[in-house]
Amino acid sequence: MTENRAADSRASIRLWTMGDIPDVRRIGWETWKATYGRFIPEEDLRAYHDEYYSVEALTRNFHRPSTRGYMALFGEDPAGYMIMSFDEKSGRCSVASIYVLPESQGHGLGSMLMQEAFRAAVEAKYDRVWLGVMSENSSTIAWYRALGFRFVEEAPFTMGKTTVRHLIGFRLLITPVPPPVPPPDSAIKFH
Ligand SMILES: CC(C)(COP(=O)(O)OP(=O)(O)OC[C@H]1O[C@@H](n2cnc3c(N)ncnc32)[C@H](O)[C@@H]1OP(=O)(O)O)[C@@H](O)C(=O)NCCC(=O)NCCS
Repeated sequence: MTENRAADSRASIRLWTMGDIPDVRRIGWETWKATYGRFIPEEDLRAYHDEYYSVEALTRNFHRPSTRGYMALFGEDPAGYMIMSFDEKSGRCSVASIYVLPESQGHGLGSMLMQEAFRAAVEAKYDRVWLGVMSENSSTIAWYRALGFRFVEEAPFTMGKTTVRHLIGFRLLITPVPPPVPPPDSAIKFH
């Protein structure tokens, strides 16, 4: 994939490599604490991180053909990541994770990652992108809605000993062709 640049010229994204795993672990942990720390105890975040973000678990994910990961860089520094899943069995293309470090948020990295998710999904012939978000995470829900997601399912999500509400939604990628625009009144000629 070619490098993609946003309005902020310090922001870019690229596919992940095995060498990015320590940064994914670090960015995940720091961003989770900042995002979920007010409603999930740190020990539960830690238990979940230990299980799903161990080097082994991320390495397995890295090699899974249905998974694709991206890094977002701010300047030279890894500042975010996104993991996509292309599940042929369920027919769902999902953004499984998208996290940008608190100090790097608001510079367009998340938008660049999400635009890449839309592009990759269209390329793989999916008509929508799915994702899930905890219902307490209201600013991110607003961000997703602004990007065109709508939430249609709800399911519990458990981290360690804590279970929270989780909204699941999608964003359609195939926009209907708009009807032809009629000419302005002044241009209509009657015969
Ligand atoms: C959600 C997240 C990935 C977005 O990434 P980001 O790099 O901060 O987002 P961007 O800078 O690309 O987005 C900024 C744009 O969204 C807009 N925006 C930001 N928050 C918004 C909100 N709550 N509602 C509507 N628009 C919003 C900004 O105005 C900006 O628009 P502009 O480019 O037209 O100025 C990031 O903030 C994050 O990691 N948050 C915490 C973790 C999290 O919740 N992850 C998702 C778990 S499901």
